[in-house]
Amino acid sequence: MAGGLVCPADYSADVFLDDNFQRILTPPKCLRQTHLCPGQDMAKFEHHIFVCINQRPPENPRGCCDPEGLGELQLLFKQELAARGLKISVRANRSGCLDQCEHGPTVVVYPEGVWYGGVRAEDVKEIIESHIVNGVPVARLALAEECVNTPSCAHKSPRKPE
Ligand code: FES
Ligand SMILES: [Zn+2]
Repeated sequence: MAGGLVCPADYSADVFLDDNFQRILTPPKCLRQTHLCPGQDMAKFEHHIFVCINQRPPENPRGCCDPEGLGELQLLFKQELAARGLKISVRANRSGCLDQCEHGPTVVVYPEGVWYGGVRAEDVKEIIESHIVNGVPVARLALAEECVNTPSCAHKSPRKPE
């Protein structure tokens, strides 16, 4: 098992044993997300965070989420998850265009299906703390219902017929 941490009792335990049950480890905080527990053969991802890193030329009227093509936002999510010991249960994936370009940079969190727009580097910690850890989506960044995949979104450029 990756990581070598086995929860000997339950999710609230604050004592850990190593793979051979030899050594007592005391991580700063026992979170369900930090280890595999008995009865769990494999960790299941509890959240997927898709971060659009699509790049388009500057003249494109739809704009794009990552004009510099650096993928920085996804890396920040990944780093923050790792720093909090959440990477075993939460995945931050690079994504192509999520078709919400006019609202970008765009991030969507599953399984809740919460869409975020205008996400900046400084928002990453708040999304993880509030949404992922505490289960409260960040309202100020959430896209309105009428913006996501509906023709009624006033922000989208009119599409040319294909
Ligand atoms: S370029 Fe990011 S949603 Fe389209
Ligand atoms: Zn909109």
